[in-house]
Amino acid sequence: MNNINLVSHPLIEHKLAILRDKNTKPFHFRMLIDEITSYLLYESTKDLTLKEVSINTPIIKTKAKKINQKIMICPILRAALGMLDSVFKLIPDASVGFLGFARDEQTLESKLYFQKLPKDASSRVAIIIDPMFATGSTAINACDLLKKYGVKDIKFISLVASPIGLENFNKFHKDVKIYVASIDECLNENGYIVPGLGDAGDRVFNTL
Ligand code: URA
Repeated sequence: MNNINLVSHPLIEHKLAILRDKNTKPFHFRMLIDEITSYLLYESTKDLTLKEVSINTPIIKTKAKKINQKIMICPILRAALGMLDSVFKLIPDASVGFLGFARDEQTLESKLYFQKLPKDASSRVAIIIDPMFATGSTAINACDLLKKYGVKDIKFISLVASPIGLENFNKFHKDVKIYVASIDECLNENGYIVPGLGDAGDRVFNTL
């Protein structure tokens, strides 16, 4: 699966270990999500194109390079809100396109309940963020929706993924590059990633 990038680094491994620990408190959990998201975002934006610009340093007029693409971050509500600040720190000019998906606990299928995309969504590089890539259903539906709006360049960042979720996703969206910090063992009967880190939204927002 060429489109799947497992971003491995000792710092990521170390931070993931603390993130997974059920005794990690919400404040620390949010901090770790923020930090790991930075590494994944850094990797996922390596292929952004640059344009030459002219600037004046205090010493001389010179040429420099700036990013030549407009970016739209698409957080999947609600857990991905814990990743959003991290994105703004690295890409302060990004637009945000919110996507709300709720999971049917019986079928584990995700259904869209909210969307708010910028008007120029189709001319932007979309980076979808969602800490957990479980069944792949939300990821598939989110990419379907963005493609329907004419978005051509889509990337997906998740902290923890399941092998079956990635496999399901690739039946529909092989063109989307995925960046994950871990590919875990499996899903349990409730659709939770194993070993995973539990309900990411509950742990970010302290609603356990
Ligand atoms: N959503 C979560 O928050 N955790 C999982 O393990 C799967 C989906």
